[in-house]
Amino acid sequence: MASTFETVGVVGLGTMGAGIAEVFARAGIAVVGVETDPGALERGRGHLEGSTGRALSRGRLTEAERTEILGRVAFTTSLEDLSDCDLVIEAIPEVMDFKRALFTDLDRVCKPSAVLATNTSSLSVTAIAATTTRPGRVVGMHFFNPAPVMRLVEVVRTVSTEDGLAEEVAGLARRLGKTPVTVADRAGFVVNRLLLPYLNHAAALLEQGLSTRDDIDTAMRLGAGFPMGPFALLDLIGLDTSYEICEALFRESRERRHAPAPVLRELVTAGLLGRKSGRGFHGEEPPANPSSEEKPSASTVAVVGGTAANGTGAADGAAEAFAERLSAAGFKTTAVEDADLVVAVSRTPVIEQAVRLPHPARLVGLNLVGDQVAEVASTVLTSPGAAQVARGLLRILGRTAVSCRDRAGFVVGALLHPHLNDAVRMYESGYASMEDIDTAMRLGCGYPAGPFEMLDRLGLETVRDGLRALYAEYRDPSFAPAPLLDQLVTAGVRSIRDLSS
Ligand code: CAA
Repeated sequence: MASTFETVGVVGLGTMGAGIAEVFARAGIAVVGVETDPGALERGRGHLEGSTGRALSRGRLTEAERTEILGRVAFTTSLEDLSDCDLVIEAIPEVMDFKRALFTDLDRVCKPSAVLATNTSSLSVTAIAATTTRPGRVVGMHFFNPAPVMRLVEVVRTVSTEDGLAEEVAGLARRLGKTPVTVADRAGFVVNRLLLPYLNHAAALLEQGLSTRDDIDTAMRLGAGFPMGPFALLDLIGLDTSYEICEALFRESRERRHAPAPVLRELVTAGLLGRKSGRGFHGEEPPANPSSEEKPSASTVAVVGGTAANGTGAADGAAEAFAERLSAAGFKTTAVEDADLVVAVSRTPVIEQAVRLPHPARLVGLNLVGDQVAEVASTVLTSPGAAQVARGLLRILGRTAVSCRDRAGFVVGALLHPHLNDAVRMYESGYASMEDIDTAMRLGCGYPAGPFEMLDRLGLETVRDGLRALYAEYRDPSFAPAPLLDQLVTAGVRSIRDLSS
Protein backbone atom coordinates (compact mmCIF):
# COMPACT_ATOMS: atom_id res chain seq x y z
CA MET A 1 0.00 0.00 0.00
CA ALA A 2 1.33 3.45 -0.88
CA SER A 3 2.51 5.46 2.11
CA THR A 4 0.88 8.80 2.88
CA PHE A 5 3.72 10.37 4.86
CA GLU A 6 1.64 12.58 7.15
CA THR A 7 4.09 12.65 10.08
CA VAL A 8 7.80 12.69 9.54
CA GLY A 9 10.65 12.47 12.02
CA VAL A 10 14.00 14.23 11.60
CA VAL A 11 16.87 13.02 13.76
CA GLY A 12 19.69 15.54 14.11
CA LEU A 13 18.85 19.23 13.91
CA GLY A 14 22.15 20.68 12.74
CA THR A 15 22.24 22.85 9.62
CA MET A 16 20.96 20.10 7.35
CA GLY A 17 18.47 18.47 9.73
CA ALA A 18 16.89 21.79 10.70
CA GLY A 19 16.66 22.77 7.03
CA ILE A 20 15.03 19.44 6.21
CA ALA A 21 12.55 19.85 9.09
CA GLU A 22 11.68 23.29 7.71
CA VAL A 23 11.10 21.90 4.23
CA PHE A 24 8.65 19.27 5.53
CA ALA A 25 6.86 21.74 7.79
CA ARG A 26 6.51 24.23 4.94
CA ALA A 27 4.81 21.48 2.91
CA GLY A 28 2.18 21.06 5.64
CA ILE A 29 3.64 17.86 7.09
CA ALA A 30 3.86 17.35 10.87
CA VAL A 31 7.47 16.99 12.00
CA VAL A 32 9.02 15.43 15.09
CA GLY A 33 12.52 16.86 15.47
CA VAL A 34 14.92 14.90 17.67
CA GLU A 35 18.25 15.91 19.18
CA THR A 36 20.46 14.19 21.72
CA ASP A 37 20.31 16.77 24.52
CA PRO A 38 18.38 19.92 25.43
CA GLY A 39 21.21 22.24 24.35
CA ALA A 40 21.40 20.75 20.85
CA LEU A 41 17.60 20.80 20.67
CA GLU A 42 17.57 24.53 21.42
CA ARG A 43 20.21 25.16 18.76
CA GLY A 44 18.05 23.20 16.30
CA ARG A 45 15.01 25.27 17.22
CA GLY A 46 17.20 28.37 16.76
CA HIS A 47 18.13 27.29 13.19
CA LEU A 48 14.47 26.93 12.29
CA GLU A 49 13.48 30.20 13.91
CA GLY A 50 16.41 31.99 12.24
CA SER A 51 15.69 30.65 8.78
CA THR A 52 11.95 31.33 8.89
CA GLY A 53 12.63 34.71 10.54
CA ARG A 54 14.85 35.62 7.60
CA ALA A 55 12.10 34.62 5.18
CA LEU A 56 9.68 36.76 7.17
CA SER A 57 11.97 39.79 7.07
CA ARG A 58 12.33 39.41 3.32
CA GLY A 59 8.59 39.32 2.90
CA ARG A 60 8.60 35.67 1.76
CA LEU A 61 6.47 34.52 4.68
CA THR A 62 3.77 36.22 6.75
CA GLU A 63 3.91 36.14 10.53
CA ALA A 64 0.90 33.78 10.52
CA GLU A 65 2.54 31.39 8.04
CA ARG A 66 5.72 31.39 10.06
CA THR A 67 3.83 30.58 13.26
CA GLU A 68 1.99 27.78 11.44
CA ILE A 69 5.27 26.30 10.10
CA LEU A 70 6.99 26.40 13.48
CA GLY A 71 3.82 25.00 15.09
CA ARG A 72 4.10 21.88 12.94
CA VAL A 73 7.46 20.95 14.47
CA ALA A 74 7.53 19.13 17.80
CA PHE A 75 10.96 19.15 19.48
CA THR A 76 12.08 16.25 21.63
CA THR A 77 15.15 14.48 22.97
CA SER A 78 13.43 11.09 22.98
CA LEU A 79 13.59 8.72 20.02
CA GLU A 80 10.48 6.99 21.39
CA ASP A 81 8.47 10.00 20.17
CA LEU A 82 9.08 8.78 16.61
CA SER A 83 6.87 5.71 17.07
CA ASP A 84 3.98 7.11 15.00
CA CYS A 85 6.04 8.61 12.18
CA ASP A 86 5.46 7.38 8.62
CA LEU A 87 9.01 8.28 7.66
CA VAL A 88 12.08 9.15 9.72
CA ILE A 89 15.02 10.86 8.14
CA GLU A 90 18.41 10.80 9.80
CA ALA A 91 20.73 13.82 9.54
CA ILE A 92 23.41 13.13 12.17
CA PRO A 93 27.21 13.38 11.64
CA GLU A 94 28.80 11.29 8.90
CA VAL A 95 30.16 8.53 11.11
CA MET A 96 29.08 5.02 10.15
CA ASP A 97 29.09 3.69 13.71
CA PHE A 98 26.74 6.48 14.84
CA LYS A 99 24.42 5.84 11.92
CA ARG A 100 24.31 2.11 12.40
CA ALA A 101 23.58 2.48 16.11
CA LEU A 102 20.82 4.99 15.37
CA PHE A 103 19.19 2.80 12.71
CA THR A 104 19.16 -0.16 15.09
CA ASP A 105 17.26 2.05 17.55
CA LEU A 106 14.94 3.48 14.89
CA ASP A 107 14.12 -0.03 13.72
CA ARG A 108 13.07 -0.90 17.26
CA VAL A 109 11.12 2.29 17.94
CA CYS A 110 9.35 2.97 14.64
CA LYS A 111 6.23 1.20 13.44
CA PRO A 112 6.92 -1.65 10.99
CA SER A 113 5.44 0.22 8.02
CA ALA A 114 7.62 3.30 8.58
CA VAL A 115 10.23 4.20 6.00
CA LEU A 116 13.69 4.89 7.41
CA ALA A 117 15.73 7.35 5.36
CA THR A 118 19.28 8.62 5.65
CA ASN A 119 20.52 11.99 4.48
CA THR A 120 24.06 10.63 4.27
CA SER A 121 26.19 12.36 1.66
CA SER A 122 28.57 9.53 0.98
CA LEU A 123 28.22 6.55 3.30
CA SER A 124 26.72 3.28 2.08
CA VAL A 125 22.93 3.27 2.40
CA THR A 126 23.09 -0.51 1.92
CA ALA A 127 25.33 -0.90 4.98
CA ILE A 128 23.02 1.33 7.05
CA ALA A 129 19.94 -0.62 5.88
CA ALA A 130 21.61 -3.89 6.80
CA THR A 131 21.57 -2.98 10.50
CA THR A 132 17.74 -3.05 10.50
CA THR A 133 15.20 -5.84 10.24
CA ARG A 134 13.54 -3.90 7.40
CA PRO A 135 16.24 -3.21 4.79
CA GLY A 136 13.49 -3.12 2.17
CA ARG A 137 12.03 -0.01 3.84
CA VAL A 138 15.35 1.91 3.99
CA VAL A 139 16.37 4.52 1.39
CA GLY A 140 18.65 7.49 1.03
CA MET A 141 16.95 10.88 0.87
CA HIS A 142 19.73 13.34 0.23
CA PHE A 143 19.09 17.07 0.48
CA PHE A 144 21.43 19.93 -0.43
CA ASN A 145 22.63 22.83 1.62
CA PRO A 146 20.77 25.17 2.17
CA ALA A 147 17.95 22.62 2.22
CA PRO A 148 15.10 25.12 2.03
CA VAL A 149 16.62 26.64 -1.13
CA MET A 150 18.21 23.89 -3.23
CA ARG A 151 15.58 22.09 -5.28
CA LEU A 152 17.18 18.67 -5.67
CA VAL A 153 16.64 15.52 -3.62
CA GLU A 154 18.67 12.42 -4.50
CA VAL A 155 16.59 9.34 -3.70
CA VAL A 156 18.93 6.40 -3.18
CA ARG A 157 17.67 2.86 -3.56
CA THR A 158 19.76 -0.13 -2.60
CA VAL A 159 19.63 -3.70 -3.86
CA SER A 160 17.39 -4.46 -0.88
CA THR A 161 14.90 -1.59 -1.32
CA GLU A 162 11.33 -2.79 -1.91
CA ASP A 163 9.94 -2.32 -5.38
CA GLY A 164 8.04 0.92 -5.66
CA LEU A 165 9.42 2.52 -2.49
CA ALA A 166 11.91 4.78 -4.28
CA GLU A 167 9.04 6.08 -6.46
CA GLU A 168 6.93 6.79 -3.36
CA VAL A 169 9.78 8.71 -1.75
CA ALA A 170 10.37 10.56 -5.03
CA GLY A 171 6.65 11.47 -4.94
CA LEU A 172 7.13 12.81 -1.41
CA ALA A 173 10.09 14.90 -2.62
CA ARG A 174 7.83 16.40 -5.31
CA ARG A 175 5.24 17.19 -2.66
CA LEU A 176 7.97 19.17 -0.89
CA GLY A 177 8.46 21.21 -4.05
CA LYS A 178 11.71 19.43 -4.86
CA THR A 179 12.84 17.57 -7.95
CA PRO A 180 13.93 13.99 -7.22
CA VAL A 181 16.64 12.11 -9.06
CA THR A 182 16.67 8.41 -8.20
CA VAL A 183 20.04 6.66 -8.15
CA ALA A 184 21.71 3.48 -6.99
CA ASP A 185 23.95 3.31 -3.93
CA ARG A 186 27.46 4.46 -4.94
CA ALA A 187 29.76 6.68 -2.87
CA GLY A 188 28.75 10.32 -3.32
CA PHE A 189 25.73 9.50 -5.52
CA VAL A 190 25.57 11.92 -8.46
CA VAL A 191 26.21 15.36 -7.00
CA ASN A 192 28.93 14.73 -4.44
CA ARG A 193 30.65 12.25 -6.74
CA LEU A 194 31.06 15.09 -9.23
CA LEU A 195 31.21 18.13 -6.97
CA LEU A 196 33.73 17.07 -4.34
CA PRO A 197 36.51 16.02 -6.73
CA TYR A 198 36.22 19.45 -8.33
CA LEU A 199 36.32 21.22 -4.94
CA ASN A 200 39.20 19.04 -3.79
CA HIS A 201 41.05 19.82 -7.00
CA ALA A 202 40.63 23.55 -6.28
CA ALA A 203 42.19 22.99 -2.84
CA ALA A 204 45.08 21.09 -4.43
CA LEU A 205 45.69 23.85 -6.98
CA LEU A 206 45.67 26.44 -4.20
CA GLU A 207 48.32 24.42 -2.40
CA GLN A 208 50.36 24.26 -5.57
CA GLY A 209 50.27 28.04 -5.74
CA LEU A 210 48.43 28.20 -9.05
CA SER A 211 46.47 31.23 -7.88
CA THR A 212 44.95 32.71 -4.74
CA ARG A 213 41.82 31.64 -2.89
CA ASP A 214 39.95 34.77 -3.92
CA ASP A 215 41.06 34.68 -7.54
CA ILE A 216 40.05 31.01 -7.86
CA ASP A 217 36.66 31.77 -6.30
CA THR A 218 36.20 34.75 -8.62
CA ALA A 219 37.26 32.77 -11.68
CA MET A 220 34.68 30.05 -11.08
CA ARG A 221 31.90 32.44 -10.14
CA LEU A 222 32.30 35.10 -12.78
CA GLY A 223 34.13 33.02 -15.38
CA ALA A 224 32.34 29.67 -15.20
CA GLY A 225 29.08 31.18 -13.89
CA PHE A 226 28.85 28.99 -10.77
CA PRO A 227 26.85 30.56 -7.92
CA MET A 228 29.79 30.29 -5.51
CA GLY A 229 33.52 29.82 -5.83
CA PRO A 230 34.96 26.48 -4.66
CA PHE A 231 36.35 27.79 -1.37
CA ALA A 232 33.15 29.61 -0.43
CA LEU A 233 31.27 26.41 -1.22
CA LEU A 234 33.67 24.18 0.74
CA ASP A 235 33.10 26.50 3.70
CA LEU A 236 29.33 26.22 3.24
CA ILE A 237 29.36 22.42 3.04
CA GLY A 238 31.80 22.18 5.97
CA LEU A 239 35.40 21.10 5.58
CA ASP A 240 34.92 18.07 7.83
CA THR A 241 32.02 16.84 5.70
CA SER A 242 33.98 17.62 2.52
CA TYR A 243 36.96 15.69 3.85
CA GLU A 244 34.79 12.69 4.73
CA ILE A 245 33.15 12.65 1.31
CA CYS A 246 36.55 12.71 -0.41
CA GLU A 247 37.71 9.86 1.83
CA ALA A 248 34.62 7.82 0.97
CA LEU A 249 35.15 8.46 -2.75
CA PHE A 250 38.80 7.53 -2.47
CA ARG A 251 38.02 4.32 -0.58
CA GLU A 252 35.80 3.26 -3.44
CA SER A 253 37.84 4.52 -6.41
CA ARG A 254 41.48 4.68 -5.22
CA GLU A 255 41.82 7.65 -7.58
CA ARG A 256 44.31 10.29 -6.63
CA ARG A 257 41.79 12.94 -7.63
CA HIS A 258 39.60 11.81 -4.73
CA ALA A 259 42.32 11.78 -2.06
CA PRO A 260 41.59 14.77 0.19
CA ALA A 261 44.01 17.65 -0.37
CA PRO A 262 46.36 17.96 2.63
CA VAL A 263 45.13 21.50 3.34
CA LEU A 264 41.67 20.05 4.06
CA ARG A 265 43.08 17.72 6.69
CA GLU A 266 45.07 20.53 8.24
CA LEU A 267 42.10 22.90 8.45
CA VAL A 268 39.82 20.18 9.84
CA THR A 269 42.40 19.18 12.45
CA ALA A 270 42.71 22.82 13.48
CA GLY A 271 38.94 22.98 13.96
CA LEU A 272 38.53 25.42 11.07
CA LEU A 273 35.50 23.77 9.54
CA GLY A 274 34.01 26.59 7.48
CA ARG A 275 30.87 28.60 8.15
CA LYS A 276 29.68 26.47 11.02
CA SER A 277 32.82 27.18 13.05
CA GLY A 278 33.22 30.74 11.81
CA ARG A 279 36.35 30.13 9.78
CA GLY A 280 37.56 27.78 7.08
CA PHE A 281 39.20 28.89 3.86
CA HIS A 282 37.42 32.21 4.40
CA GLY A 283 36.79 34.17 7.54
CA GLU A 284 38.36 36.34 10.15
CA GLU A 285 40.84 38.13 7.98
CA PRO A 286 40.61 41.67 6.65
CA PRO A 287 39.12 41.74 3.18
CA ALA A 288 41.65 42.09 0.39
CA ASN A 289 41.85 45.46 -1.26
CA PRO A 290 42.27 44.57 -4.89
CA SER A 291 42.10 48.10 -6.22
CA SER A 292 45.09 49.66 -4.48
CA GLU A 293 47.88 48.20 -6.59
CA GLU A 294 46.95 48.16 -10.20
CA LYS A 295 47.51 51.36 -12.06
CA PRO A 296 48.52 50.95 -15.66
CA SER A 297 51.29 53.38 -16.44
CA ALA A 298 51.51 54.93 -19.87
CA SER A 299 52.71 51.64 -21.27
CA THR A 300 53.01 50.53 -24.83
CA VAL A 301 51.37 47.21 -25.41
CA ALA A 302 51.83 44.49 -27.99
CA VAL A 303 49.27 41.76 -28.50
CA VAL A 304 50.20 38.39 -29.95
CA GLY A 305 48.32 35.11 -30.40
CA GLY A 306 49.11 31.85 -28.63
CA THR A 307 51.42 29.42 -30.36
CA ALA A 308 51.48 26.30 -28.23
CA ALA A 309 53.41 23.38 -29.63
CA ASN A 310 50.25 21.38 -30.27
CA GLY A 311 48.64 24.30 -32.06
CA THR A 312 45.71 24.53 -29.67
CA GLY A 313 46.86 27.64 -27.82
CA ALA A 314 45.69 30.21 -30.33
CA ALA A 315 42.06 31.07 -29.83
CA ASP A 316 40.80 31.96 -33.31
CA GLY A 317 40.88 35.69 -33.90
CA ALA A 318 41.01 36.34 -30.16
CA ALA A 319 44.32 38.25 -30.29
CA GLU A 320 43.07 40.52 -33.08
CA ALA A 321 39.80 41.12 -31.27
CA PHE A 322 41.62 41.97 -28.06
CA ALA A 323 44.00 44.36 -29.86
CA GLU A 324 40.98 46.12 -31.37
CA ARG A 325 39.37 46.49 -27.96
CA LEU A 326 42.59 47.99 -26.62
CA SER A 327 42.77 50.49 -29.45
CA ALA A 328 39.11 51.39 -28.98
CA ALA A 329 39.87 52.09 -25.31
CA GLY A 330 42.61 54.50 -26.35
CA PHE A 331 45.67 52.30 -25.89
CA LYS A 332 48.36 52.38 -28.50
CA THR A 333 49.47 48.95 -29.60
CA THR A 334 52.93 48.52 -30.95
CA ALA A 335 55.43 45.96 -32.22
CA VAL A 336 56.64 43.34 -29.78
CA GLU A 337 60.22 44.72 -29.73
CA ASP A 338 59.04 48.18 -28.64
CA ALA A 339 56.40 47.14 -26.11
CA ASP A 340 56.60 47.52 -22.32
CA LEU A 341 53.96 44.82 -22.04
CA VAL A 342 53.42 41.88 -24.37
CA VAL A 343 50.05 40.21 -24.03
CA ALA A 344 49.93 36.69 -25.47
CA VAL A 345 46.26 35.82 -25.95
CA SER A 346 46.30 32.10 -25.40
CA ARG A 347 44.44 29.19 -23.84
CA THR A 348 47.68 27.34 -23.13
CA PRO A 349 50.93 28.21 -21.33
CA VAL A 350 52.99 30.98 -22.84
CA ILE A 351 56.53 30.38 -21.58
CA GLU A 352 57.61 29.16 -25.03
CA GLN A 353 56.67 32.52 -26.46
CA ALA A 354 58.30 34.41 -23.64
CA VAL A 355 61.72 32.86 -24.16
CA ARG A 356 61.71 33.93 -27.81
CA LEU A 357 61.35 37.59 -26.89
CA PRO A 358 64.17 40.06 -26.29
CA HIS A 359 62.52 40.89 -22.91
CA PRO A 360 60.70 37.78 -21.65
CA ALA A 361 59.91 39.57 -18.38
CA ARG A 362 57.41 41.74 -20.26
CA LEU A 363 55.17 38.92 -21.44
CA VAL A 364 51.98 37.72 -19.76
CA GLY A 365 49.47 35.15 -20.98
CA LEU A 366 45.90 36.30 -21.29
CA ASN A 367 42.79 34.17 -21.56
CA LEU A 368 39.36 35.78 -21.72
CA VAL A 369 36.74 33.66 -19.98
CA GLY A 370 33.09 34.45 -20.61
CA ASP A 371 32.14 38.13 -20.62
CA GLN A 372 33.63 39.16 -17.32
CA VAL A 373 36.90 37.45 -16.48
CA ALA A 374 40.42 37.58 -17.88
CA GLU A 375 43.03 35.15 -16.62
CA VAL A 376 46.46 36.78 -16.47
CA ALA A 377 49.20 34.17 -16.43
CA SER A 378 52.66 35.07 -15.20
CA THR A 379 55.53 32.84 -16.28
CA VAL A 380 58.58 32.30 -14.10
CA LEU A 381 60.16 35.12 -16.09
CA THR A 382 57.29 37.65 -15.96
CA SER A 383 58.10 40.74 -13.90
CA PRO A 384 55.58 41.67 -11.20
CA GLY A 385 55.33 45.10 -12.84
CA ALA A 386 54.23 43.68 -16.19
CA ALA A 387 51.54 41.56 -14.54
CA GLN A 388 50.36 44.57 -12.60
CA VAL A 389 50.09 46.72 -15.70
CA ALA A 390 48.16 43.93 -17.43
CA ARG A 391 45.65 43.70 -14.57
CA GLY A 392 45.12 47.46 -14.58
CA LEU A 393 44.59 47.40 -18.32
CA LEU A 394 41.94 44.73 -17.97
CA ARG A 395 40.13 46.68 -15.35
CA ILE A 396 39.85 49.60 -17.74
CA LEU A 397 38.45 47.19 -20.30
CA GLY A 398 35.79 46.14 -17.78
CA ARG A 399 37.18 42.68 -17.03
CA THR A 400 37.96 41.17 -13.64
CA ALA A 401 41.55 39.95 -13.71
CA VAL A 402 42.39 36.57 -12.23
CA SER A 403 46.12 36.14 -11.69
CA CYS A 404 47.64 32.71 -12.07
CA ARG A 405 50.78 30.81 -12.91
CA ASP A 406 51.55 29.69 -16.42
CA ARG A 407 49.98 26.24 -16.23
CA ALA A 408 47.78 24.20 -18.55
CA GLY A 409 44.17 25.32 -18.33
CA PHE A 410 45.10 28.35 -16.21
CA VAL A 411 42.33 28.39 -13.55
CA VAL A 412 38.93 27.87 -15.15
CA GLY A 413 40.06 25.26 -17.68
CA ALA A 414 42.09 23.38 -15.09
CA LEU A 415 39.08 23.07 -12.81
CA LEU A 416 36.17 22.92 -15.22
CA HIS A 417 37.42 20.51 -17.89
CA PRO A 418 38.18 17.61 -15.50
CA HIS A 419 34.84 18.29 -13.77
CA LEU A 420 33.01 17.91 -17.07
CA ASN A 421 35.14 14.89 -17.94
CA ASP A 422 34.01 13.25 -14.68
CA ALA A 423 30.40 13.76 -15.75
CA VAL A 424 31.08 12.05 -19.09
CA ARG A 425 32.76 9.17 -17.27
CA MET A 426 29.78 8.87 -14.93
CA TYR A 427 27.39 8.73 -17.88
CA GLU A 428 29.64 6.23 -19.65
CA SER A 429 29.66 4.01 -16.57
CA GLY A 430 25.87 3.72 -16.83
CA TYR A 431 25.29 5.11 -13.34
CA ALA A 432 23.09 8.03 -14.39
CA SER A 433 21.59 9.54 -17.52
CA MET A 434 22.76 12.86 -18.95
CA GLU A 435 19.38 14.40 -18.10
CA ASP A 436 19.64 13.27 -14.48
CA ILE A 437 23.22 14.49 -14.15
CA ASP A 438 22.34 17.87 -15.67
CA THR A 439 19.26 18.21 -13.44
CA ALA A 440 21.19 17.16 -10.34
CA MET A 441 23.97 19.70 -10.83
CA ARG A 442 21.62 22.52 -11.79
CA LEU A 443 19.22 22.01 -8.92
CA GLY A 444 21.62 20.59 -6.31
CA CYS A 445 24.41 23.13 -6.79
CA GLY A 446 22.69 26.01 -8.56
CA TYR A 447 24.76 25.62 -11.72
CA PRO A 448 23.53 27.83 -14.54
CA ALA A 449 23.65 24.77 -16.82
CA GLY A 450 24.29 21.07 -16.30
CA PRO A 451 27.67 19.56 -17.23
CA PHE A 452 26.44 18.22 -20.57
CA GLU A 453 24.85 21.54 -21.47
CA MET A 454 28.17 23.19 -20.58
CA LEU A 455 30.08 20.69 -22.70
CA ASP A 456 27.94 21.48 -25.71
CA ARG A 457 28.27 25.21 -25.14
CA LEU A 458 32.03 25.16 -24.70
CA GLY A 459 32.53 22.77 -27.60
CA LEU A 460 33.49 19.13 -27.21
CA GLU A 461 36.78 19.67 -28.99
CA THR A 462 37.78 22.60 -26.79
CA VAL A 463 37.16 20.54 -23.67
CA ARG A 464 38.88 17.47 -25.11
CA ASP A 465 41.93 19.54 -26.06
CA GLY A 466 41.94 21.22 -22.65
CA LEU A 467 42.00 17.79 -21.02
CA ARG A 468 44.80 16.59 -23.28
CA ALA A 469 46.87 19.62 -22.31
CA LEU A 470 46.20 19.01 -18.61
CA TYR A 471 47.09 15.35 -18.96
CA ALA A 472 50.32 16.24 -20.78
CA GLU A 473 51.24 18.64 -18.01
CA TYR A 474 50.26 16.68 -14.88
CA ARG A 475 50.11 13.04 -16.16
CA ASP A 476 47.15 12.43 -13.89
CA PRO A 477 45.10 9.61 -15.48
CA SER A 478 41.84 11.27 -14.43
CA PHE A 479 42.63 14.17 -16.78
CA ALA A 480 42.78 11.88 -19.82
CA PRO A 481 39.69 12.62 -21.92
CA ALA A 482 36.89 10.09 -21.37
CA PRO A 483 36.93 7.70 -24.33
CA LEU A 484 33.41 8.79 -25.29
CA LEU A 485 34.47 12.44 -25.48
CA ASP A 486 37.43 11.59 -27.65
CA GLN A 487 35.32 9.46 -29.96
CA LEU A 488 32.63 12.12 -30.35
CA VAL A 489 35.24 14.68 -31.36
CA THR A 490 36.83 12.23 -33.80
CA ALA A 491 33.42 11.45 -35.27
CA GLY A 492 32.68 15.16 -35.70
CA VAL A 493 29.64 15.04 -33.38
CA ARG A 494 28.95 18.52 -32.02
CA SER A 495 26.42 17.86 -29.28
CA ILE A 496 26.97 15.17 -26.68
CA ARG A 497 23.29 15.45 -25.72
CA ASP A 498 22.31 14.12 -29.17
CA LEU A 499 23.28 10.71 -27.76
CA SER A 500 20.54 10.83 -25.16
CA SER A 501 17.69 11.78 -27.47
N1 CAA B 1 18.58 29.03 4.65
C1 CAA B 1 17.40 29.39 4.11
N2 CAA B 1 17.30 30.19 3.04
C2 CAA B 1 18.44 30.65 2.51
C3 CAA B 1 19.71 30.33 3.01
C4 CAA B 1 19.74 29.49 4.14
N3 CAA B 1 20.91 29.11 4.69
N4 CAA B 1 20.66 30.94 2.26
C5 CAA B 1 20.01 31.61 1.30
N5 CAA B 1 18.67 31.45 1.45
C6 CAA B 1 17.62 31.95 0.58
C7 CAA B 1 17.47 33.42 0.73
O1 CAA B 1 16.52 33.73 1.74
C8 CAA B 1 16.98 33.83 -0.64
O2 CAA B 1 15.61 33.54 -0.76
P1 CAA B 1 14.60 34.65 -1.28
O3 CAA B 1 15.05 35.00 -2.66
O4 CAA B 1 13.30 33.93 -1.21
O5 CAA B 1 14.72 35.76 -0.30
C9 CAA B 1 17.67 32.86 -1.59
O6 CAA B 1 18.05 31.75 -0.78
C10 CAA B 1 18.87 33.47 -2.24
O7 CAA B 1 19.73 33.88 -1.20
P2 CAA B 1 20.70 35.13 -1.26
O8 CAA B 1 20.13 36.17 -2.18
O9 CAA B 1 21.06 35.51 0.13
O10 CAA B 1 22.03 34.55 -1.80
P3 CAA B 1 22.42 34.04 -3.21
O11 CAA B 1 21.57 34.51 -4.31
O12 CAA B 1 23.86 34.31 -3.23
O13 CAA B 1 22.18 32.46 -3.10
C11 CAA B 1 22.76 30.27 -2.51
C12 CAA B 1 22.69 31.72 -2.06
C13 CAA B 1 21.36 29.76 -2.75
C14 CAA B 1 23.41 29.51 -1.37
C15 CAA B 1 23.59 30.19 -3.84
O14 CAA B 1 24.81 30.82 -3.67
C16 CAA B 1 23.83 28.78 -4.30
O15 CAA B 1 23.02 28.16 -4.97
N6 CAA B 1 25.03 28.21 -3.95
C17 CAA B 1 25.38 26.83 -4.25
C18 CAA B 1 25.06 25.98 -3.06
C19 CAA B 1 25.39 24.53 -3.30
O16 CAA B 1 26.10 24.13 -4.19
N7 CAA B 1 24.83 23.67 -2.42
C20 CAA B 1 25.07 22.25 -2.48
C21 CAA B 1 26.28 21.88 -1.70
S1 CAA B 1 26.57 20.14 -1.72
C22 CAA B 1 25.56 19.56 -0.51
O17 CAA B 1 24.92 20.25 0.22
C23 CAA B 1 25.49 18.09 -0.41
C24 CAA B 1 26.38 17.47 0.55
O18 CAA B 1 26.07 16.35 0.93
C25 CAA B 1 27.61 18.08 0.98
